[in-house]
Amino acid sequence: MTATILIIDDDEMIRSFFSELLEDEGYEVLAAATGGEGEALLRQKPVDVVLLDLRLPDVDGLTVLGRIKGQEVNVHVIVLTAFSAVPTAVEAMKLGAYDYVDKTSDASKLKLIIERALKELAMQREIERLRRRSGGYAQGWIVGESDEMRRIARLVEKVAPGRATVLLQGESGTGKEVVADAIHRQSARSNKAFTVINCAAIPEDLLESELFGFEEGAFTGARRRKKGLLEVADEGTLFLDEIAEMAPKMQAKILRVLETRMVRRVGGTSDVTVDVRFIAASNRDLKEAVKQGTLREDLYYRLGVVVIDLPPLRERMEDLELFVAAFVDEFNRSMGRKVTGVSSRVLKLMREYPWPGNIRELRNVIERAMVLCEGEEIQPSHLPGDFSELAAAVDPSAATPQLSDPAPELPDDGLDLEDVVVHLERHYIVEALERTGGNQTEAAALLSISRDQLRYRMEKYKLT
Ligand SMILES: Nc1ncnc2c1ncn2[C@@H]1O[C@H](COP(=O)(O)OP(=O)(O)OP(=O)(O)O)[C@@H](O)[C@H]1O
Ligand SMILES: [Mg+2]
Repeated sequence: MTATILIIDDDEMIRSFFSELLEDEGYEVLAAATGGEGEALLRQKPVDVVLLDLRLPDVDGLTVLGRIKGQEVNVHVIVLTAFSAVPTAVEAMKLGAYDYVDKTSDASKLKLIIERALKELAMQREIERLRRRSGGYAQGWIVGESDEMRRIARLVEKVAPGRATVLLQGESGTGKEVVADAIHRQSARSNKAFTVINCAAIPEDLLESELFGFEEGAFTGARRRKKGLLEVADEGTLFLDEIAEMAPKMQAKILRVLETRMVRRVGGTSDVTVDVRFIAASNRDLKEAVKQGTLREDLYYRLGVVVIDLPPLRERMEDLELFVAAFVDEFNRSMGRKVTGVSSRVLKLMREYPWPGNIRELRNVIERAMVLCEGEEIQPSHLPGDFSELAAAVDPSAATPQLSDPAPELPDDGLDLEDVVVHLERHYIVEALERTGGNQTEAAALLSISRDQLRYRMEKYKLT
C-alpha cells in the first residue's frame, strides 16, 4: 500500500521540491499552502505523514499540530524548521510531533525520517489490529505472526469451548500461563474462577489439603472443615503449573479426580462431584519425564488430550518487533511516557540474544530500559549487562563509549557527515540546556566541555 504524505507549507518552492522528491520515492503526495487547506485535506483523505511548516500565513503551525494530534487518527507529523527555529521545534516535539527536519538539510535525512515514521506507524496499526481482533490481543495475549503461533491460536480457539484437558509445554516465560488464561477466557467458564496452583511451590502434604480440602478434625490444626481448590474451582478452570514436580501419591489422586470427577476431602468419608476444566503446564519435556519415571504415564495421557508446545522466543524472532512495540506501548501507558521504540542497534542486539527467559525476560528488559531511558528511543546503554557483552562481541568498537549508540545506522545511500555531526551537536546542547533548566555551567559539565565552548556553540546555533 502506498503511503500518503501531506506537505503543509506556504512556500511554493518547498512544496514543489518536496513533492517531486517524495513522489520519486513512490509516495502519494498532497500539498497545501495554508493550515486551513491542510486540515481540510486531512479530513478528506487518509494521510500517514504530515510535513508541517510552523510558520503559516493563516494559523500558527503549533496550533495545527495540536489539532492533528488531538484527533483519534494515527498520523505522524514531521515539523519543517528553518535553521534558527530549533527551540520552536523542541516545543513541537512536546506537542507530539514525530521529529523535526531542517528545510535546508540534505534530502536523504528527510527520507530516512519519513521511512522510520512509516515503519512505526505500521507497527502501531498492527498492534491496534491485534487488539481489536477477538481471540488475539483482546483476550490478553499477543498471538504474533509466525505460522506456528497462528496455528496455536487456532487450536486455542478450537479447544477453549470444550472441557478437554490441555497440556502446555514450553520453556520458562514462553507464555504457558498466558495461553491457559486465554483458553479460560474463551470458554463458557470465563465468568467462573481461573485458579492457579503451582505444584512445585507447595510441600507434598500441604498440597493435598490445599487441593482436596479437609474435614474438621482431619489432622491437628484442622479445626473447621475447609473446601479445597478443586471444589473452589468448580465450574471454572484449574491450572496445574509445573505438573512434573508433583509427588507420585498426589499424581494418583489427581488421576482419580480426572477419571471420576469426584473429590474426597482429607478425613472425609464421602465424595463431592466437581466440574473442573484442567489445564496443566510444565517447562520440562513431559514425555521425557514419563520415561524417567517422574510422571505417571496414565496421568500424562489423561492430561494431554490436547498438547500445545510453545516455541521459545529465539525460534519466533519474526515476532520480536511486535512484542517490543506492544510492551513499549504498555509501559508508555502505565508510566505515562512517550517512548517511540528501540534504536536499530538495540533491535540488532535483541535479534542476536538467545532469550533464555523468553517473553517474560523481554518484557522485563523493556520495562527496565524505559525506566533508564530519558529520551525517546531505547538505546543499547539501557540494556542489561548481558547485552553489552553481546555488543562487544558483535562490534568491539561499540563497547567503549558510554554513549553507546546515539546515531542510526549508515543509510544505504550514505549521508552527509558534517551535517549529521552538526545536527547531533545541536541536539545534545538543546537537551543539556533543557535538562539543566538553562544553567550553562551544569549543561557544559554534562557535555564535558567548558562554559566558553558551550557559549560559542550556543551562539553558532543561535540558541539563546
Ligand atoms: N503471548 C503473549 N502475549 C503477551 N504477553 C506475553 C505472552 N507470552 C508471555 N507474555 C508475558 O510473559 C510473562 C510470562 O508468561 P507466562 O507466565 O505465561 O510464562 P510461563 O510459560 O508460564 O513461564 P514459567 O514456566 O516460568 O511459569 C507474562 O506475564 C506476560 O507478561
Ligand atoms: Mg508459568
